[in-house]
Amino acid sequence: MERKLYGDMIIPEFKLLKGDCLETLKQLEDNSIDAVLCDPPYHLQSIVKRFSAEDAKESQYGKDGLFQRASKGFMGKSWDGGDIAFRTDVWRECYRVLKPGGHLVAFGGTRTIHRITCAIEDSGFEIRDMISWLYFSGFPKSHDVSKGIDRHLGAEREVVGDYQKRESWGKDFVGGTGYEDTSINITKPATPQAAQWEGWGTALKPSYEPAILARKPLEKGLTVAQNVLKWGTGGLNIDKSRFRYGDSCWVGPNEKDISIGSGKIGYGSQCRGLNPGTINPYGRWPANIYQCPKPSRAEKEAGLEHLPSITGAEATGREEGSAGLTPRAGAGRSAAEIRNTHPTVKPVRLFSWLANLICRPGGIILDPFLGSGTTAVAGILEGFDIVGCELTPEYWPIIEGRVSWAYDAWKDKHRQYKLF
Ligand SMILES: C[S@@+](CC[C@H](N)C(=O)[O-])C[C@H]1O[C@@H](n2cnc3c(N)ncnc32)[C@H](O)[C@@H]1O
Repeated sequence: MERKLYGDMIIPEFKLLKGDCLETLKQLEDNSIDAVLCDPPYHLQSIVKRFSAEDAKESQYGKDGLFQRASKGFMGKSWDGGDIAFRTDVWRECYRVLKPGGHLVAFGGTRTIHRITCAIEDSGFEIRDMISWLYFSGFPKSHDVSKGIDRHLGAEREVVGDYQKRESWGKDFVGGTGYEDTSINITKPATPQAAQWEGWGTALKPSYEPAILARKPLEKGLTVAQNVLKWGTGGLNIDKSRFRYGDSCWVGPNEKDISIGSGKIGYGSQCRGLNPGTINPYGRWPANIYQCPKPSRAEKEAGLEHLPSITGAEATGREEGSAGLTPRAGAGRSAAEIRNTHPTVKPVRLFSWLANLICRPGGIILDPFLGSGTTAVAGILEGFDIVGCELTPEYWPIIEGRVSWAYDAWKDKHRQYKLF
């Protein structure tokens, strides 16, 4: 097949397979994909489905609707409500289409990653590692035990003050910054029982999401070197994925200064003290943790100006002004105009790093669960060919808009090559 050129650069290709990946993946040939990078449904509803009695009554809406929403899947989305990521069917398909030695990265929820991991392993993959995306900005969805006791006893708590909580997000590659303030009441226990349990909750602050790093076994009888030569797969691109000195993606201890001979490498005070004999000018060895913030609204919306917008309330299915729309409830969706309606968009920066880690330059990456298309955006920006599947029609125009933005950005990046 003839490839399209931009100057002398090969334009990356993108193919969207609309529908259920169990069906659409059948279109792909055996051993044709270099890497799989995906963020499948976390199936966070399963507490109810899996642990309730078969004839249990359907969950009720309750005071804030949380329980019923949870039983339908994340933020009430029916696509999170099944169990496709827990079954081997989809991973067997990924195994079939991946080249021998090809890597797979799949995200999962902290409460459900074990089920996805077992399904991936049971499909024939070797589990190689677990990678943690650290974002630190999650809000604990914790039940206040003391307040619960007062409510249960019918006692009203006195408001004794309030405090301002600021949720901010940093500059991303399309320039979005901002913050939102929320006022939170401080109340004191109304009963001795509540006083005894003051300070107790039921959940930790979510600060990271895990991903499984797995590999289809090398071709039988081949060493890593032979497999890489035959298929282009089997290794990780360590040098391309190194953490530059001073890069905030590394949250471990920082050395202070780096110098090689008379030249100086690194970022001043953050790099002082490193032994020149042990440093690599491209940065430190990539770790299995990676820190970056959740994507800003500007990053999620890039390329979607032509789509109709909805409000934060419409996006979450909650009432305007309800706690669920404030950043402290973790939704971060109080922006008036939302075009990317997907609730679980991943950062492009994180997916660019992962794509480069597991795929040879210019290789083909598959994402069976595209969502709003972050794998495609990151992949195109980095020059990979992308094949992606998405079940939900609502997200198809969002994927197409973001992909078209990514092509423009890729062309901007390579404009100098076109001139010669
Ligand atoms: C967690 S989201 C992916 C979000 C994505 N990483 C992003 O940044 O936008 C998972 C997606 O998988 C899709 N999905 C669920 N079951 C599917 C299936 N059987 N075939 C294809 N897509 C499916 C859902 O519609 C949802 O958009």
